[in-house]
Amino acid sequence: MMQSLENKNILLIISGGVAAYKSLELIRLIKKAGANVRCILTESGTQFITPLSVASLSEEQVYTDLFSLKDETEMGHIRLSREADLIIVAPASANLIAKTAHGRADDLASTTLLASDKPVLIAPAMNPEMWDNEATQDNIQTLEQRGITLIGPAQGDTACGETGTGRMSEPEEIFGAILSFFYERPLKSFKALVTAGPTYEPIDPVRFVGNRSSGKQGYAIATALFEAGADVTLISGPTALPGPVGIKTIRVETAQQMLKACQSALPADIAICAAAVSDWAPKENKASKIKKRRNHTPPSIALKENPDILARLAKDGPNRPDLVIGFAAETEDIIINAREKLARKNCDLMIANKISAAENVFGSNQNHVHLVSLDDSEEWPRASKKTIARKLAQRIAQHINNKEKATNVRRIEAAE
Ligand code: C5P
Repeated sequence: MMQSLENKNILLIISGGVAAYKSLELIRLIKKAGANVRCILTESGTQFITPLSVASLSEEQVYTDLFSLKDETEMGHIRLSREADLIIVAPASANLIAKTAHGRADDLASTTLLASDKPVLIAPAMNPEMWDNEATQDNIQTLEQRGITLIGPAQGDTACGETGTGRMSEPEEIFGAILSFFYERPLKSFKALVTAGPTYEPIDPVRFVGNRSSGKQGYAIATALFEAGADVTLISGPTALPGPVGIKTIRVETAQQMLKACQSALPADIAICAAAVSDWAPKENKASKIKKRRNHTPPSIALKENPDILARLAKDGPNRPDLVIGFAAETEDIIINAREKLARKNCDLMIANKISAAENVFGSNQNHVHLVSLDDSEEWPRASKKTIARKLAQRIAQHINNKEKATNVRRIEAAE
């Protein structure tokens, strides 16, 4: 039986390309599965298929022009994006891909994509030389790094008579990607807590001890777990990032506050400590600003140790999450040091990364990590923090799945 897409709202952007005719079949498949589909047809898209065919199949008005008074009064580009659960761009022309990668907004399709905070799947279609061109490849890399999912393109003959990579994926394959998006929720019914960002440890009302953590990796992990279906609580130190949509975000400042927030988020199945918790806090938090006095020696700040949140969460006990993952930023011997940390803090996995001037991780959108367990380690190629987060979410799902299978086998053996 086909899975239903009842009550799902899909926005399909059709740009210019011979493959646009395949999008009519895609609309039919989406409608048959019960979803609502609204379509934006770019101006060059109208050279290949007519708004009337799109409107007839989608049973909705077709949106074609950003500056059409009618389109904007009835349904602005912001609403088109906000009311969608998922945006598909099929076919995605080289031009629309380039515009999206560079944040251009000169028609309804590109403006809607720029104004969107929704998951986006793109199915490129173009001449193989255009696809292979470094410019297109760079643009695709940019989009993937921002978390856009690519479907295809496929290999074979293209409309221009050349053979190579550039054919749009078949409607059935794009439809399959839509189904996976809605149904592959491997962490459904799991509860996760994620710490992210730095902590600020006050010296007085205006000064603090802190660090350079941007929180980007932790926020990306919280989002990836949420997208995989988990019920996520994000406990964040001070960052400039907006709270991810749909995720319970608790903002804290100090390590003590972070620990308390973590403890109140228990029980959880998964805990991921991506926060760069300050190891020390000033012994004293002065009630009033320390004055700078001429000819006085600068004050010294006595420090005390902060609680190790990861070690506390990972400590054996009834409230210990099934899977506890920590981060280890190291300057050398990263695997050995990460494994030592894993054993010392009693966690299950460590994400280790090398901190050096050459691999600037702080504040960057990229990361280069190793996944380290007690008896294994695996290097993941340098990629966006979002990509690493998604890969981690998949690994967590596998880990939980294997564990559940093992438990079931034990149950069956016990029953026999
Ligand atoms: O010992 P180190 O600070 O290198 O360990 C890093 C890991 O431990 C990270 O996962 C970090 O979130 C966690 N940690 C913590 N509380 C601390 C110090 C580190 O949760 N006080």
